[in-house]
Amino acid sequence: MVRMVAAGVTPLDHTILSGHFPLSKAPLVLGNEGAGIIEGGDPDFPDGTRVAFLGPFGVFEDGTYSEYVEVPKELLLPVPETIDDVAAAGLPVAYLTAYLALMNAGFATGKVVLAPAIGGSVGNAATQLARALGARHSISSTTSHAKAEEAKALGFSEVIDLTTEGLADGVNRITDGYGADVVIDGIGGKILSDALPALARGGSLITLGYSAGRESTINVTDLIWKVASIKGFSLLSESAAARNAAWSVIADLLASAQVKPIVAKTFPLEDAAEALRYLIEERPLGRVILTI
Ligand SMILES: NC(=O)c1ccc[n+]([C@@H]2O[C@H](COP(=O)([O-])OP(=O)(O)OC[C@H]3O[C@@H](n4cnc5c(N)ncnc54)[C@H](OP(=O)(O)O)[C@@H]3O)[C@@H](O)[C@H]2O)c1
Repeated sequence: MVRMVAAGVTPLDHTILSGHFPLSKAPLVLGNEGAGIIEGGDPDFPDGTRVAFLGPFGVFEDGTYSEYVEVPKELLLPVPETIDDVAAAGLPVAYLTAYLALMNAGFATGKVVLAPAIGGSVGNAATQLARALGARHSISSTTSHAKAEEAKALGFSEVIDLTTEGLADGVNRITDGYGADVVIDGIGGKILSDALPALARGGSLITLGYSAGRESTINVTDLIWKVASIKGFSLLSESAAARNAAWSVIADLLASAQVKPIVAKTFPLEDAAEALRYLIEERPLGRVILTI
C-alpha cells in the first residue's frame, strides 16, 4: 500500500474528465501517477520506502488523487534520495514516455533531437534526457515569447521561439541545415505538420500526444524524399519490465542532477479542479502537482 504524498496532474486527466477517452468509465478517481511512502511493505520495499509509480490508475481503476493506493510491486519505482516527493510525483509519466519514445525512435549519442513544447512535461523531459544522453543538439520550442525567455533563463539554450521563427527554420538555423534525426511530438495539430519538414534524412518522428489537436496535415514528400518515418507511441503498451529498465537509467540521471525536474506549481488535493484548469489554460513551464 502506498500512502500518497503527491500526485502528478496530467493532460490525460483532463481528457478523461472531458469524456474524450472512451476506455475510462465513471465513477473514477483521477490521477495516473504519483509518489508516496510504502506501508505494509516487504523485504524488497520495506515500510517507509519512498516510491513513485504509474499504471492503470485514474484510467481503468481509481487513481492517485487519493490518500492511499494499492500498487502491484512491479509498478513501484524507487525514488532517488535527492528528489523530493513533490518532484517525484511528476516524473513517471513524462520521463518514462520521453525515454522510451527516444529509444523507439532510434536515439543514440550524437543525434539531433527536436521535442516541441519546452514547458510541457514530455517536451521538457525529452529535451533534458536527450541533452544528458549526449545529443548533438537537443532542441525544443514554445508558442509563448515569455516562456522562451523563461526557458533560456533556466539554461535551455536551444528553444525556438515560435512567435518569431518557424519550427523548421529554427531547426535548420541551429543545425546548419542538417535537420532533426528524432522528433518526439506530444503536441500534434500544426506543430506535427511543421515538424515534418524539420526531419533529417532517415529521421523518425514519434507522435504520442495531441495537446494542440488530433488532426494534422502531412506533406508526404517530407517523408518520401527524406526516407523518413512517423510512428505512434503509447506508454500504456510498454511492459513493466521495459519501464523498470528505463527507470534505472532515469534514476541515475536524476541522482547525478544531469536532469532536473521542474515543478511550476503545487495545489492541495481539494483544489484538484483548479490545478487541472491551471495546467490546461495557463500552460505553465513545469509540472502541476497535488499535495496530499
Ligand atoms: N502516448 C503516451 O504514452 C503519452 C504519454 C504522456 C503524455 N501523452 C500526451 O502527450 C501530450 C503532451 O503531454 P504533456 O504532459 O507534455 O502536456 P502539457 O504538459 O500539458 O504540455 C502541453 C504544451 O503543449 C504546447 N501547446 C502548443 N500548442 C498548444 C495548443 N494549441 N493547446 C495546448 N497546448 C499547446 C504548450 O506549450 P507552449 O505554450 O509553450 O507552446 C503546452 O505547454 C498530451 O496529449 C498527453 O496526453 C501521451
